[in-house]
Amino acid sequence: MTATTADRLDPYRELFERSADAILIIDGNRFVECNQATVTMLGYDDREQLLRTHPSELSPPTQPDGRSSYEKADEMMAHAFARGSHRFEWEHRRRNGEVFPVEVLLTAVEREGRPILHVVWRDITERKRLEEHVRHAQKLDAIGQLAAGVAHDFNNILVAIMGNAELLQRKLNVPEYAPHLDEIVEAGHRAASLIRQLLTFSRKQESATETLDLVVVLADLRKMLGRLIAEPVQLHVSAAPGALPVRAARSQVELVVVNLITNARDAMPEGGTITIHLEAVELRTGPLTGSFACLTVTDTGAGMSPETVTRAVEPFFTTKEVGKGTGLGLATAYGVARAAGGDLRIESQLGEGTRVEVFFPLLGEGSPVDVAAFAV
Ligand SMILES: Nc1ncnc2c1ncn2[C@@H]1O[C@H](COP(=O)(O)OP(=O)(O)OP(=O)(O)O)[C@@H](O)[C@H]1O
Ligand SMILES: [Mg+2]
Repeated sequence: MTATTADRLDPYRELFERSADAILIIDGNRFVECNQATVTMLGYDDREQLLRTHPSELSPPTQPDGRSSYEKADEMMAHAFARGSHRFEWEHRRRNGEVFPVEVLLTAVEREGRPILHVVWRDITERKRLEEHVRHAQKLDAIGQLAAGVAHDFNNILVAIMGNAELLQRKLNVPEYAPHLDEIVEAGHRAASLIRQLLTFSRKQESATETLDLVVVLADLRKMLGRLIAEPVQLHVSAAPGALPVRAARSQVELVVVNLITNARDAMPEGGTITIHLEAVELRTGPLTGSFACLTVTDTGAGMSPETVTRAVEPFFTTKEVGKGTGLGLATAYGVARAAGGDLRIESQLGEGTRVEVFFPLLGEGSPVDVAAFAV
């Protein structure tokens, strides 16, 4: 379809061509016309090539509800003819195989006495991503509230157990029983530390925040991290030049780093490389916008399945053996980042390693920070 002078002058043609949404005409079972946005959206070279393609090629075999695209498309078109128009969500497939979500509006119209369909597709990839993010955050909030409630009640019980155990430790002078009492108290301390982590995740525990330079915090932590990591795992630490002032509790930021490094180490029993990097980033899209200090921990380990990626920050979600992991590491890191007004993002693929990014809002100019040299 080549544009003639008449086409270019036609305002309706112009609207059709300039639309950011894909607009098409279906006659019978084929697309007979489409605008440039359709070609771009689906990744074809030109209109002719796209129109030659059978419509079934443009969708994956099944839709997210598990139904065959072919059958469902017929049903959607029948709805549109019956009601005049029909709006629904759909998944399409680009020429390179990539599947993406669209909102479809089908309108039944008559052309030369025959019913045809006027079709509009809007790419809703970004909207879906935001919805998913909000849904996930709400779910974690709900789990956080539950966790905080349990932790609170449990803490009261623990206070009674520990108080009495410690009393017995002091008063009961039977050497034979002493090791048992010591074990009770020791287990009680471990339980208390778990409760503290749960409260951190659910942000119910107030910690004193201060202005910190993340670069300094990481430099101070460097030695300790060395002790967590042993051959054959290598650790690389780097930071972009300049301070990264943020508002957070130092002990919590340290907890984030330690948890991420521990996870990376555990994912590489055969060895590999962990890279920690700090830099300032500008986030322009998504639920978080502005200037952030970004702490990235990358490993070359086992990676995670998509299911593990989505569940990883849930408290008590672990794939480790009983006794090896409590599933609170990432939940805690996420809780700390969110409490500071930031976020945590995971990118991972099985066998391909993992990249975890933690964002903290950067404090503006003029915030008091110590300038410190950072040795890589
Ligand atoms: N770097 C990583 N590589 C591969 N999988 C990871 C990585 N980090 C986390 N995971 C996966 O996410 C799960 C949850 O991690 P999280 O740190 O919350 O708990 P955990 O490490 O299992 O236990 P805990 O940290 O409480 O000792 C892990 O069990 C693991 O399956
Ligand atoms: Mg962990």
